[in-house]
Amino acid sequence: MPRMRLDKLLAHLSCGSRKEVQAMIRSGRVQVDGAVQTDPAAKVDPDESQVALDGAVQGYRAQRYYMLNKPAGVITANRDDRHETVLGLFPAELRRGLFAVGRLDKDTEGLLIVTDDGALSHALMSPARHVSKVYEAAVEGALAPDAAERFAAGLGLKDGTVCRPARLEVLAQQAERTQVRVTLREGKYHQVKRMIAAVGGTVVQLRRVQLGGLTLDPALPAGAFRELTEAELALLQQPGVQLG
Ligand code: URA
Repeated sequence: MPRMRLDKLLAHLSCGSRKEVQAMIRSGRVQVDGAVQTDPAAKVDPDESQVALDGAVQGYRAQRYYMLNKPAGVITANRDDRHETVLGLFPAELRRGLFAVGRLDKDTEGLLIVTDDGALSHALMSPARHVSKVYEAAVEGALAPDAAERFAAGLGLKDGTVCRPARLEVLAQQAERTQVRVTLREGKYHQVKRMIAAVGGTVVQLRRVQLGGLTLDPALPAGAFRELTEAELALLQQPGVQLG
């Protein structure tokens, strides 16, 4: 891996914000290969150097797992000639080998896992595992009164596709808009938008807030990412919300 600034490395390892880790480094709490390093701009090779904070070694894991708060307007792809991509939100020195787990539409925001662990990605996306996905959506138009029951029973889409049982909850009802939470245990193309359309609404804003047992960190701004903690990695591998 190319050499990178010490403060940047520690921030990517979730030791704190860039500002916070700079203060930690300046106050002498960080050692590189056993020697205190007080310069946040010092260059280190994450593969070669041992970096410790308060004596605890902060290593890159063999595999990398990031939580990204995907902003609207970027596509879930590694590279694209015309559009900004989710991988483009990562600095070049981290990007190599990374890919997004599953896909969110260009206009969808929220929780996206970016990793270099193909086995984990496969397990999370496997239709047989039914890992839950929770979305919050702003919807225009009047939803059918029996929409939640139809979601729970296994909704038929306009093209004849039948969805697995899902959950629809109304969070808030405004004059023109309804805020809803949708919980699925599968991931068909444009599934939330198509399910909402089948019960009379139009999704005007969509955000994924949970995947398996892992919830999007509310403090992570749109467009930002950070490494998962060990606890979060374990939560991600749980099936999440049970439906019926
Ligand atoms: N359902 C959709 O319609 N779009 C997404 O991006 C994810 C789920």
